[in-house]
Amino acid sequence: RPDEQGRRVFELQARPGDSDFGHGATRTWGYNGAYLGPTLRAKRGEAVAVNVRNALGETTTVHWHGMHLPAAMDGGPHHPIAPGGSFQAAWTVDQPAATLWYHPHPSERTETQVYRGLAGLFIVDDDEPAQRALPHDYGVDDIPVLVQDKQFDGDQLSTGERFGSDIGVLGDEILVNGTPRAYLDVRSELVRLRLVNASTARIYNFGLADGRPFALVGTDGGLLDRPYMTDHVRLSVGERAEIVVALEPGERLTLRSEQALGGDLESKFNGGRDAFDILQLRAGASLTPATLPKTLVATPRLDPERAAQTRSFVFQGREISGRGMDMSRADAVVVKDTIEVWNVANGHDTPHSFHIHDVQFQVLLVDGRAPPPELSGWKDTVFLAPKQRYRVIARFADYADPATAYMFHCHVLRHEDEGMMGQFVVV
Ligand code: C2O
Ligand code: CU
Ligand code: CU
Repeated sequence: RPDEQGRRVFELQARPGDSDFGHGATRTWGYNGAYLGPTLRAKRGEAVAVNVRNALGETTTVHWHGMHLPAAMDGGPHHPIAPGGSFQAAWTVDQPAATLWYHPHPSERTETQVYRGLAGLFIVDDDEPAQRALPHDYGVDDIPVLVQDKQFDGDQLSTGERFGSDIGVLGDEILVNGTPRAYLDVRSELVRLRLVNASTARIYNFGLADGRPFALVGTDGGLLDRPYMTDHVRLSVGERAEIVVALEPGERLTLRSEQALGGDLESKFNGGRDAFDILQLRAGASLTPATLPKTLVATPRLDPERAAQTRSFVFQGREISGRGMDMSRADAVVVKDTIEVWNVANGHDTPHSFHIHDVQFQVLLVDGRAPPPELSGWKDTVFLAPKQRYRVIARFADYADPATAYMFHCHVLRHEDEGMMGQFVVV
């Protein structure tokens, strides 16, 4: 219900609770419940206000990953919410329909807070006809699939403080929306899955057990121009993909993840275990007919000729261009309403994940070549394989605030906590 200012109001309370993932009760954290948080949903053009209360025993923040909004509402480490405290984030949603998410972003505690269960989806809607041409009945044929890996010590969720590989916590059990061994009853020929990698470190390569192709229809910041048929989609931490899967009556089909990195990298950084069942799709005996649209949206392309500035950043060790996080330093000062080109490179042999706040970008080049279809749409996070180079372009529109920084960082949450993060201000 809208408030007196016509805003759509949401309430989130970060709090501890008890969850049972099949091993017995264990302590977890969630928003409004014991684990994860409600799916928030608003339409382009709508004013929203989210009242966040902190009922945890430690400081937290809530960041709206992928959202275009003023820096003061962004929920970075500059806006801590003390235990017992509260914060109101308010802004007007103005970006294409997309699958976004929210999670804590406090200084040095992001990994452990997300691992304990603090995360949720924020779905943005708009009036594009493609949204109605695609499966769009939430919970029926349009399904959030928030994927996390967990480690248990006996009946207890490992606290995630310190274990795993050089990229952080790696669990050997998969939760989908907080549920182990998840399955979904499907009643329609097409089902849309909104895949979200909400893990702290693990990289997934999603595909169907029988290798059949599916349609990739959207990435981090919205729909692609047209469905792209593929048999796998890789998501590093923080990335999203919307896919549409076609099913036959009565069949069972498992969404899996396999060989996200391959070879040495797989054992060194992804825990050595390369295959997980994610979600079983159980098709009913008769299915509602559905067809996939041939085209989706028309994305305007940002023109590098019009860039006001080009910057370069190298991710290496736990630093970006030789510098660790310093909350009092701006690494880039961007002029409002200008376009910038950023060259982002991984300088060494550890995988990283590049994420920038406030904007959605377009990929111009990957290792000097034109981007593949899965990188052709709006992105806010990209996987940075060892030695990989990206050239991306973004428009920093609408909001200037010289006193408040946005962040850009590695979205491997341990790396982020260890200081692999920079700041930019828009003036
Ligand atoms: Cu999803 Cu700066 O974070
Ligand atoms: Cu973010
Ligand atoms: Cu990293």
